[in-house]
Amino acid sequence: MTADLSAVTTLATSTAEDDRPRIGADPDMFCRPGDPTLSSVRADGDAALVTWSDGRTGRFHWVWLRDNCLCSECCHPAAWEKMHDITALDLDVRPAAFTLTEDGALRIVWPGLNQAGRAHKTRFPAAWLRRFCYDDWAEEERAETIEPWTAAIGNRRPEIKHQAVMESDDGLRTWLRHLRRYGFCIVKGAPRRPDTVTQTARRIGFLRQTHFGVDYTVISKPNPENVAYTPIYVAPHTDLSYTQTPPGLQFLHCIDFEATGGESILVDGFAVAERLRREDPESFDLLARIPADNRFHDHDYDMRCRKPVIELDEAGRVAAIRTNRQGEGPLGLRPDLVRPYYKAKQAFALLTRDRSMTLRFRLEPGDIMSFHNHRVLHGREPYDPGSGKRRLQGCYVDCDQAWSRLRVLEAAAKAH
Ligand SMILES: [Fe+2]
Repeated sequence: MTADLSAVTTLATSTAEDDRPRIGADPDMFCRPGDPTLSSVRADGDAALVTWSDGRTGRFHWVWLRDNCLCSECCHPAAWEKMHDITALDLDVRPAAFTLTEDGALRIVWPGLNQAGRAHKTRFPAAWLRRFCYDDWAEEERAETIEPWTAAIGNRRPEIKHQAVMESDDGLRTWLRHLRRYGFCIVKGAPRRPDTVTQTARRIGFLRQTHFGVDYTVISKPNPENVAYTPIYVAPHTDLSYTQTPPGLQFLHCIDFEATGGESILVDGFAVAERLRREDPESFDLLARIPADNRFHDHDYDMRCRKPVIELDEAGRVAAIRTNRQGEGPLGLRPDLVRPYYKAKQAFALLTRDRSMTLRFRLEPGDIMSFHNHRVLHGREPYDPGSGKRRLQGCYVDCDQAWSRLRVLEAAAKAH
């Protein structure tokens, strides 16, 4: 099939419904100066083959394009939500006509009429197609820069001033970018008040409430419900491993720190997992494949979650780490896996303590240590509670809030 020129004429002269300005339209719809437009389109079997002005080619199935039709009947112009019924989708749909517009977008006329009794037309902006192109190269083009790190990052650890985070969207965006790229960032110079950490985290989004409360205080206390509330060594771990979705971002604000000892430890769990994959692939495979039992229980709670230590995405990349010695339940394992699994757990734990992998530093009063709890493990050296105070205030925000905020800030920055 080639572009039907009679349809092109019709489209060019009509005030097509799909050309009406969309109410507060999705930022993915707009090209910025310098962004590629579409330079050609042709039919290729059950798909459209488009070429952008930078030479990249993308294949979009007609059924996919029909499903994602951007006309105001198929996609609500105010809510930006899909309006048509999946059961009505014709899996073998083909366009009645298609062409490129003068500004390099793809215009399609679907067979049949829309609800208003007019031709069913839609327009796919070049930027929108690029954003959602599902070819392998496009996935790679959009891949985020997640930078694995080891102890050497100590010389250039990501930091930002508290004032920048609180007073400007640029500061907030920089903070979130660091959290995305490195999985942690130290916010410096925060006021040493108990409500500072929650106020700061709320710049990103809603707080995640847990059984610890909206926020919590980390001090050494009698009858602790958790080893964080003692002065002993806390091995690198992720928090709330026994929940279905552990909190995404964690914030620990150092309000007082006069005690000796108590250095903070951070480890990039993704870097550790990749090293294990290289050095001990069998252990890596066990930790990625076999679910582990996690549990928290006291008089009021009995939380359990059975998930692997290493979570992989569909491409086999490390997507999340879940490990907390104190939150381990008795393991329910196939008998032949018991010894190999313990060996694997040990190998992983040893890497998280390897000095070449860990970042160690002393928090200063006014620092907020922020980190991605699905990636970066945190721990603490023991301290002497008799030598002075150590008081941290902590809270959580989920990744949905954080990465959504980052995307919206990035889109706003691009638009200016
Ligand atoms: Fe913790």
